[in-house]
Amino acid sequence: MAQADWIRIHPLVVRVTHWVNVVAVFLMLTSGWQIYNASPLFPFVFPPGLTLGGWLAGALQWHFAAMWLFALNGLVYLAYGIASGHFRRKLLPLSPRAVLRDVGAALRGRLAHDDLSVYNAAQRAAYVALILALALLVASGLAIWKPVQLYPLAYLLGGYELARRVHFLALASIVAFVIVHLALVALVPRTLRPMITGRV
Ligand code: HEM
Repeated sequence: MAQADWIRIHPLVVRVTHWVNVVAVFLMLTSGWQIYNASPLFPFVFPPGLTLGGWLAGALQWHFAAMWLFALNGLVYLAYGIASGHFRRKLLPLSPRAVLRDVGAALRGRLAHDDLSVYNAAQRAAYVALILALALLVASGLAIWKPVQLYPLAYLLGGYELARRVHFLALASIVAFVIVHLALVALVPRTLRPMITGRV
């Protein structure tokens, strides 16, 4: 295919931050499960084979190391998304009516994804909800990391114990997003290549 036939789908910053985020989320999730297992909030623990760090102290070190990668990478994505107009172009406008229409079409298997440079309303809503859930995850994580120094934040989230639950539930919503996200990539596999090379 000639150079002029390529269509640019995903900018480099979005692709790099997306894949760095996949690594960071994997490290934070698996070390987080090990930390959870040391003092479970609910009547279950995660299988040790799915956890990282070996024991509580090892998992905390992984969690805090990956936290910098996750947070700095997230800030680069957010700054780029806002400054370049990427969020405005790709995630907006967003109306409840369009989201309901596209979710309904997706459930009936009738949602076309012909133009890979445009996200449908269901995708836009999912990505915006994900960004908000990630922000809540970071805020609640900070509140339980430094509950004394960041007392106002912990207070806003209902105190240390509630902030722990908020952190866990924000994470659960992100895991649910990732499961649906991967299922959709498997259903429409031609979306994967542009997320790596940037173009079709
Ligand atoms: C191996 C795991 C993953 C694969 C294969 C994957 C694949 C993809 C693909 C193909 C797209 C483009 C969708 C399209 O053009 O219709 C995409 C976009 C996106 N993915 Fe993933 N993804 C993975 C993990 C994740 C994780 C863990 C997160 C966050 C927790 C995430 C968040 C996003 C976001 C926010 C976008 C939209 C980016 C933008 O345009 O600003 N992905 N992903």
